[in-house]
Amino acid sequence: MNGREFVEFLYRKYYPELEGPIIAVRKALAELDPKSPAFAQLMQRQAKRELSHARAFSKAVLQYPELDPHERAEIAHQAAEEFEHYALLKDYLKSRDADIEDLSADAYGAYFDQFLTGDVEAFRLCNIAEKSAVVFLRHLRDVSTDPDVRRLAQAMVADEEGHEDRVKSQLAKIAENENRRDFLAKQFVQSWASQKTGVFLEARELGLDLEKVLASFKQAENL
Ligand SMILES: [Fe+2]
Ligand SMILES: [Fe+2]
Repeated sequence: MNGREFVEFLYRKYYPELEGPIIAVRKALAELDPKSPAFAQLMQRQAKRELSHARAFSKAVLQYPELDPHERAEIAHQAAEEFEHYALLKDYLKSRDADIEDLSADAYGAYFDQFLTGDVEAFRLCNIAEKSAVVFLRHLRDVSTDPDVRRLAQAMVADEEGHEDRVKSQLAKIAENENRRDFLAKQFVQSWASQKTGVFLEARELGLDLEKVLASFKQAENL
């Protein structure tokens, strides 16, 4: 197995348990009625995610001398894009009188904070689950009944696709070294599992029928 194949193997192995259900739930969240308060809360939460991601990547540029100039530039660039997404979401929320000051930014900071104090290699893999943001935004762009929401998602989706590509090539690069594969698998599971906890909690708090969504995911996938 080369690096890329090993990464594909990981994705396949954990799809039924991690990626699959997470994506099913995020798609269901994207289908919430755009006029509902729950949808506004969903966008508030997304705004906070973007902000904590942007902050963490900005800090990492200064934090890790191990990053080469090219990588440093890419991380700074991604931080700028996540800040931009935060601004877009904030404008959207303002347009519907649902600004985000009532939600603590700390709620989403904890995930990234753990990657700012230690191993640069762990930091490099901290956004393995970025793929779920891509699927969420694509779905929002394609299915939302509100043209403003479709435009909002469209404005962010290409950036997120770029971020996902970066994660993919990081993963494949690390996986080329067979000695690093255990570490990689551990980070992969940790990152997706943490995403799962957050997304499931969010779904419950926003009143989604989680059990129903998961049951139909299993049925569709023959699990
Ligand atoms: Fe983003
Ligand atoms: Fe991103």
